[in-house]
Amino acid sequence: MIRKSLSLIVDNGNGDEPPSNRSGNRSFAEVLDARIRRRTVLKGSLAAAVAGLFSGALAGCNSSSSSSPQGEGPPPPRLLGFDAIPVGTDDTIHVPEGYSWQALTEWGRSLSTGILEDLPFPAGQGGARQADSMGSHHDGMHFFPIDGLDPYEGSSDDGLLVMNHEYVEPRYMHEEAIGQALSRDAFLTYDDGGVQRRHSDQVLAEINGHGVSVVRVQKQTNGEWIMVAGDPRNRRITALTPMEIAGPVRGTDFVKTRFSPNGTMTRGTINNCAHGVTPWNTYLTCEENWAGYFRNRDSGGDAQPREHARYGVAAGTSRYGWELADADPDDNDQAYARFNAAPIGAGPTDDYRNEPNAFGWVVEIDPFDPDSTPVKRTHLGRFAHEGVVFQPPVEGQPIVLYSGDDAGHEYIYKFVSAQPYHRETAGGHLLDSGTLYVAKFNEDGTGEWLPLVWGLGVLRPDADVPFQSQADVLVNTRLAADAVGATRMDRPEWGAVDPTTRQVYFTLTNNTGRTVTDAANPRANSRWGHIIRWSEAGGNPAATAFEWDIFLLSGPTDDSDFDGQPLDEDQIHNSPDGLWFDAEGRLWIQSDISESVVNAGDYAQFGNNQMLAADPVNMELRRFLTGPLGQEITGVVTTPDQRTMFINVQHPGATITPAQFAAGELEGNGTWPLGGGNYGRSATVVITKDDGGVIGT
Ligand code: FEO
Ligand code: CA
Ligand code: CA
Repeated sequence: MIRKSLSLIVDNGNGDEPPSNRSGNRSFAEVLDARIRRRTVLKGSLAAAVAGLFSGALAGCNSSSSSSPQGEGPPPPRLLGFDAIPVGTDDTIHVPEGYSWQALTEWGRSLSTGILEDLPFPAGQGGARQADSMGSHHDGMHFFPIDGLDPYEGSSDDGLLVMNHEYVEPRYMHEEAIGQALSRDAFLTYDDGGVQRRHSDQVLAEINGHGVSVVRVQKQTNGEWIMVAGDPRNRRITALTPMEIAGPVRGTDFVKTRFSPNGTMTRGTINNCAHGVTPWNTYLTCEENWAGYFRNRDSGGDAQPREHARYGVAAGTSRYGWELADADPDDNDQAYARFNAAPIGAGPTDDYRNEPNAFGWVVEIDPFDPDSTPVKRTHLGRFAHEGVVFQPPVEGQPIVLYSGDDAGHEYIYKFVSAQPYHRETAGGHLLDSGTLYVAKFNEDGTGEWLPLVWGLGVLRPDADVPFQSQADVLVNTRLAADAVGATRMDRPEWGAVDPTTRQVYFTLTNNTGRTVTDAANPRANSRWGHIIRWSEAGGNPAATAFEWDIFLLSGPTDDSDFDGQPLDEDQIHNSPDGLWFDAEGRLWIQSDISESVVNAGDYAQFGNNQMLAADPVNMELRRFLTGPLGQEITGVVTTPDQRTMFINVQHPGATITPAQFAAGELEGNGTWPLGGGNYGRSATVVITKDDGGVIGT
């Protein structure tokens, strides 16, 4: 989840994707309410939710997992072998007894020399130093075995660690911020005419702090992991890196700009939250809260085009003010000015009115080819993509993947490729043709995948909300989903697919914008979040129908709103976000309580953000890890042998107040991992079991 603790240059509050769904579509909350009222709802109960609600619905599913744990035959092996740890409230990492951790690939570590750069960067040098260093705000991540053949098979002690950098914290980057309260003004200068500007090197540092890092990592003989400085495959992809536009939107008027008059290219990827891993061994990075990086039409009364308005592109100024840079190193192509999407030129190829249309996509990166050009795969839709999760591929069958739109009341999508998967020939082209669907959750526990196909149903030129082409449908994915009647959800975050059952799980992190009290979904002003799951009809991932239910209602032990078995002290958590199945079927759940509320009020009982593990077969849930102050836990993957786990700690120290920062009061607000009065730095955490065993056992 994006956390804009940064108070500068933000005009939509916390900087999250602003709610912009004004459709009348039925919300998931309303559907859940109706559905659960007819059954015995269990509060915060993993076991009860599974056994009570799911056993009937999933009869006939292609696995025994969770559908019949009490069925015939020997009991299934228990997946969780560690003792749960208590909630954490201090400024370090805690893992169960018998486990160890180390920090790796901290923000600012040079990819070429391995040296950890001082923060803030020296004035005037930030842009170049950040270009060669690990980016900020680590998020979704994958370990690619160095063999380069399969994303989940191969070496377990040598590989490419590939991760997203969701956003940046300018106050930690720039010397000019020292001693300043956190405000927009601290980073602004003014030209002779009194016009607001920003130092271009600061802007470049922030742009280079975004994107993706590809770094070689290796396990040493002493068991520690290192980043291999100077490896030829180490690479930074940033908000400036040239990228191809592929799929139905390529070459259309929607994406023609001064930089790319034929609409085939753009520059950069921003606000990369979670990720995906293709069966053909490439990395997908997802553009989540990108809209706030642009501004549009601050001078006139013109209405914004719908492809901006439905996504919340601001009318006034942008989140970081990159468009205000006082010098442009690439002036002909306006590398910074492009974040002003106002129609200020003679036509679309004279300005950047279409620049926001090149964002909101899923971007494919080949981590093994440092010279490759990333590709924006437009057929996967344009929205606030949290992440992408694939069904296991089957030879000769379509590729199937899912992606959530993380904003209040937005939707969950599925893509089914037109062409079948064949391992020998599989590649990104499979993502360029197919069908994008959006989910509708019915009251009776069934669901439908509604196709977003131009010419079908209401998606046509003469409809109330007209669509002129498939590209139009994709650029305006949210509007198309509104039109077909999709179900508005409580902020879909990560998804995960059970490798055995093929059931799909999604976190719905919270939705405080929800005002309707209902007994089922479960809380008005939904602050705690929950996890849903579904099974595709007939066990066919490409099916257009499914059966769904709640897997877990997150929250405290004393949630008196609902009947049923509560979570216990080993299980309580809030705002589930990251979600991942390991190869043996453990479900790893990561929390992202906003730094605006973490450790305060009702949220204090949950402590610092954490990671839990669930065993969906035996219906167990235990807290595995707690993080330091001010952060969120995100990103999770293991090596193929499951004996090394990597997770990310994002934005440690983000709870510091403007006054505390101005006074230099870093201690007590999160200085992990360096401590000693240093700024907190996002970093990867390597987790191993002291006996060399599988993580989670
Ligand atoms: Fe970037 Fe929805 O978390
Ligand atoms: Ca989140
Ligand atoms: Ca997230």
